[in-house]
Amino acid sequence: MTSNIKPKTIFTGDNLPIMRGMNSASVDLIYLDPPFNSNANYAAPIGSEAAGAEFKDTWTLNDVNVAWLDLIETKHPALNRVIHAAMTDSDKSYLIYMAVRLIEMHRVLKDTGSLYLHCDPTMSHYLKLVMDAVFGKANFRNEIVWKRTAAHNDSAVYGGVHDIILYYSKGNSLTLNEQYQPYSDEYLKRYRHTDENGKRFLDRDLTAGSLSGGGYQYEWNGITKIWRCPFTTMQEYHKSGKLYYTRNGTPRLKQFLDDMPGVPVQDVWIDIPPINSRAKERVGYPTQKPLALLDRIIKASSHEGDTVFDPFCGCATTLVAADRLQRDWIGIDISAKAAELIVERIRDDQGMFEDIIARDDIPNRTDLGHIPRYNATENKTLLYGEQGGDCNGCGEHFQKQHLEIDHIIAESVGGTDHIENLQLLCGHCNRIKGNRGQEYLISRLNAS
Ligand SMILES: C[S@@+](CC[C@H](N)C(=O)[O-])C[C@H]1O[C@@H](n2cnc3c(N)ncnc32)[C@H](O)[C@@H]1O
Repeated sequence: MTSNIKPKTIFTGDNLPIMRGMNSASVDLIYLDPPFNSNANYAAPIGSEAAGAEFKDTWTLNDVNVAWLDLIETKHPALNRVIHAAMTDSDKSYLIYMAVRLIEMHRVLKDTGSLYLHCDPTMSHYLKLVMDAVFGKANFRNEIVWKRTAAHNDSAVYGGVHDIILYYSKGNSLTLNEQYQPYSDEYLKRYRHTDENGKRFLDRDLTAGSLSGGGYQYEWNGITKIWRCPFTTMQEYHKSGKLYYTRNGTPRLKQFLDDMPGVPVQDVWIDIPPINSRAKERVGYPTQKPLALLDRIIKASSHEGDTVFDPFCGCATTLVAADRLQRDWIGIDISAKAAELIVERIRDDQGMFEDIIARDDIPNRTDLGHIPRYNATENKTLLYGEQGGDCNGCGEHFQKQHLEIDHIIAESVGGTDHIENLQLLCGHCNRIKGNRGQEYLISRLNAS
């Protein structure tokens, strides 16, 4: 699906309506680092480049729009069960806020795309359930532990030093380019030889003594043995200077450190340090993440020319990393300071600024074609099939002519005629609900 957003666009505004204006299946990789429900408010220090940037991370049920809950209750029953498993109202409101946004992220992601959700142990266990409900449990790939600081003094608990990154794909066909990290000092000690060009190497056994399945018997350098490679391969090793001889003349294979890729990255990342107070990349933005972290994620899960999307982009770490790696990018942040900072940061980093687009409007989707009016017969037929002929309120089965089309999110508060926002109710339930939310209808039905 083609995107309706130009590459290198940064939006200022709430990401929910903006994402609702983005075409489906139009981005390749999403990284999000949303508020964590940490019960704190963040502000950048005065005097830092980011001064003026702030965001709140405390939650009450007043923060969530009742229409979001209606949508989840009506269209996403598994997600609804997860949200109701939350222990406190604050957790519940946070999960509703996240769930409606993750539904949109799932929609805008291409079928081959991946999403990395950065959070911490405050809510990671609930967010994993939310992700399972939105992306499907089978599309869970990894729970990555990122050690974000060396030590933390917390009272009566072990110091909390890690964040969690939940990695999901949209489907089975995905991009995952293997990434490597440097070898440990312990391993490097094994490269104890240096050749005439100063290249470090270790020597590997070429005899087949310990191999099951035999080897190749021949004489080499006056020594007849069973070797693990054929004679011709030994000759090639010789020609390319890859043979190292022990004191008694036995050939061994040189393994050069420069030829080794490193240790394949596992799901615990302890090699990416936090941004220190003197780091060049530090802009003072609260919760700024290191470029190296985004560099790894973007290299692993996208190709040059792909579109990387960060709907909570803060001071643009993802966008700068994507730009450096020749990926296209789209970012959103609710804070106007973030957009200012992004333009400055990318300009300083790349010396290029004329092609950055800064917007604060809601885009219009161009992939919907003609949307029929909500009460069109085709909508009724589709919804009747989807709901199996049952009223979405009382659950009773009805003939088609006795069900009425209802807007889940009322038109008066921005609900559209798109099929996603429609349901069938029987006349009785529709009268009870009126212009109110689904939650009201369900509570009235439960009370009677
Ligand atoms: C944890 S910070 C992201 C930091 C970012 N990864 C970085 O390296 O700078 C979360 C960001 O989400 C933004 N935010 C919070 N609610 C938002 C919303 N509804 N829509 C868009 N951005 C939002 C905040 O302004 C804040 O910049």
